[in-house]
Amino acid sequence: MADNESLIASGLVQQGVSVTRRMAASLPELRNIAESKGLKIHHLGAGYPHPDVTDPKGFLVHKQAFFDKLAAEQGLNDPETTPEFLREAFAYTDTLGPRLPRELFAQIYGADWNLDINPDQLIPTVGATGGISMVCSLFERGDQAVAYLTDAPTYAGFVARASLKQSSRIFSVDMDAEGPDPEQFLSQIHKARDEGYFLPFYYTVPDGHNPAGISFSDKRRGEILDIARKEKLLILEDAPYLYINYEKPENRPRPFIAMDDEQTVHLFTGSKIGFPGPRIGFVYSNAKIRIKHDQSVLLSKLLLTEASSEILFQNPEALYGFAALLHDPALEPRKSLWSVAESKMDVYFENRAILLDTLQQELGAYGDHFSWTIPAAGFFSVFTFLDSNVRADETTVANLVSEFGVVVVPMAEFYPADAQQRCAGAGLNQIRLSFCFSESAPGKRADDMRSAVSTFCVAAKKLSGIS
Ligand SMILES: Cc1ncc(COP(=O)(O)O)c(C=O)c1O
Repeated sequence: MADNESLIASGLVQQGVSVTRRMAASLPELRNIAESKGLKIHHLGAGYPHPDVTDPKGFLVHKQAFFDKLAAEQGLNDPETTPEFLREAFAYTDTLGPRLPRELFAQIYGADWNLDINPDQLIPTVGATGGISMVCSLFERGDQAVAYLTDAPTYAGFVARASLKQSSRIFSVDMDAEGPDPEQFLSQIHKARDEGYFLPFYYTVPDGHNPAGISFSDKRRGEILDIARKEKLLILEDAPYLYINYEKPENRPRPFIAMDDEQTVHLFTGSKIGFPGPRIGFVYSNAKIRIKHDQSVLLSKLLLTEASSEILFQNPEALYGFAALLHDPALEPRKSLWSVAESKMDVYFENRAILLDTLQQELGAYGDHFSWTIPAAGFFSVFTFLDSNVRADETTVANLVSEFGVVVVPMAEFYPADAQQRCAGAGLNQIRLSFCFSESAPGKRADDMRSAVSTFCVAAKKLSGIS
């Protein structure tokens, strides 16, 4: 057994568990308390895709049909013979994984976002989580202390990864309804560099921000990109909710990667548009990195060296399964990924409408007490208590489970330490409401969602002293 003292001393053990994991761990006990009082459990906390949209049965039939088609194309109709693609799907592969899924993805994603994607620069990752880890790891190789720029609030999974490196620091930027504050964005870049840190990128989730429940406006994206270009700072764009979008097509802002693929490192994940289990993801960028004063290399080349050392090989079978998803029911390559999202969007559109309509009906008359974000994409709305005496901390949230059966996530911990210093109690009056998940029996989802939000409204009024 390893010696804990030395692990702690060497910085291998650090940082607490994230608020979402702590909530998940405390849930069984709180659920028992709630259920012993006869309360139904209402989920407005989890960020998982809804079970209605992740039933794999239909996909497995489609995947098999696609695999049969590949076998036939390889001229192997004899069931006794193993087609080449199937051997590859279960063999060690190149670090880049099989070519077919990358070629298809490059073509389809490229068409959606008007990008010319070179499949050799598409590096498979273990979901977006693996992409975050790979990019951080690349920039942590050097001797200089690393700092990361991100939003306040920001995605807990990013903070969890960034703080694995004990000497790293997070500099954060406050946000309004349009995105990060450009002035503070610039001043934080200068602050980090003046303090001697190597600042390789700004991490963000511009579409359907988790947890902030907003999407950045076009104008703000432009302002942030201009500064990033001038300051030679990469933008690490995490895009799980790009296609979980509630805006009309003409109103959807472009992701940073479509605005400038030399300034952006883009993380795609199959988790929300497809299934989270197979852990499909790609990191893509056309950025170049200066490695000596007169020599630059493609970032993707450097990332490839990370990929081959850190996560030795991809799961080629899962990538072939993803290639199946990139084909339509007639087994023709899709023209766009929007058609994959469509099958899920009915559920999310309806859940979002129930959340927003119910909040409006029940709390719309109390504009002095409450506000909430209207998400243009993604799974979350941030609910704010405007009464200064309401604290939406972990104890309050635990009480919401045990007294009302409502599960939500407090926002305060999504604010990095420097944001807490700028504004004591940042996020302490906020709750993240998630409308993506429920435990409902089939056909009961909408009713359960409605009663979850209604129950939350009753609880919110009680917290704010409204009878
Ligand atoms: C912003 C953000 N990034 C990454 C992830 C994780 O994605 P993946 O399943 O692809 O690792 C999530 C999922 O909740 C997320 O909200």
